[in-house]
Amino acid sequence: MKRAAARAALGYVVEGSLVGVGSGSTSRFFIEELAGMRGRIAGAVASSEDTRRRLENHGIKVFGLDEIAELPVYIDGADEITPAMHMIKGGGGALTREKIVSAVAGKFVCIVDATKVVDCLGRFPLPIEVIPMASAHVARELVRLGGAPVAREGFVTDNGNLILDVGGLRIADPVDLETRLNQIAGVVTNGLFARRPADVCLVGAAEGVRTMTAG
Ligand code: 5RP
Repeated sequence: MKRAAARAALGYVVEGSLVGVGSGSTSRFFIEELAGMRGRIAGAVASSEDTRRRLENHGIKVFGLDEIAELPVYIDGADEITPAMHMIKGGGGALTREKIVSAVAGKFVCIVDATKVVDCLGRFPLPIEVIPMASAHVARELVRLGGAPVAREGFVTDNGNLILDVGGLRIADPVDLETRLNQIAGVVTNGLFARRPADVCLVGAAEGVRTMTAG
């Protein structure tokens, strides 16, 4: 189902142009599919070191954001997505670079299997990237917000930071919570992608791939 969604995303890649590529298992399927059209794209922008290595191993040229003028489309998975196209991301720990690349892209195409579509975000623990010296402070602030933060053991992000996975949140207003979490000193990024939601979601299911858009 993940591969089917990934394959369908090829239809959103603009020939002769650049494509932003996410991280995680669904994005890895997308990279394999993208390899088949490497001669028809200008290259890619990677949202993690793992993605960069995989793209380069397939002979796809990878550009930094400072080297490009525009990025028509970004394609990435999600841990949860609602019909309003709000997402939780960061299960793979690449949320900060994912949020940066998606902010630059003209269109965000999310690729998921049907298990990721939810009515309300929060069953999946919300990943938060934290500057190491601030982790105890950020954890206390998260408890005050009703969350139950757990440090992701033995994990360091591509940016040299830590991840707190926050359980116990029922996220009724994702835009508001995304904004509030960003105000905690020491938070680099939180895994709510609601202020900039996906534009399209390709949902792989047993009966085929469904296209979901907001509204
Ligand atoms: C990585 C992510 C992934 O997109 C998310 O965790 C989904 O992963 P998968 O495609 O393996 O289910 O946000 O930081």
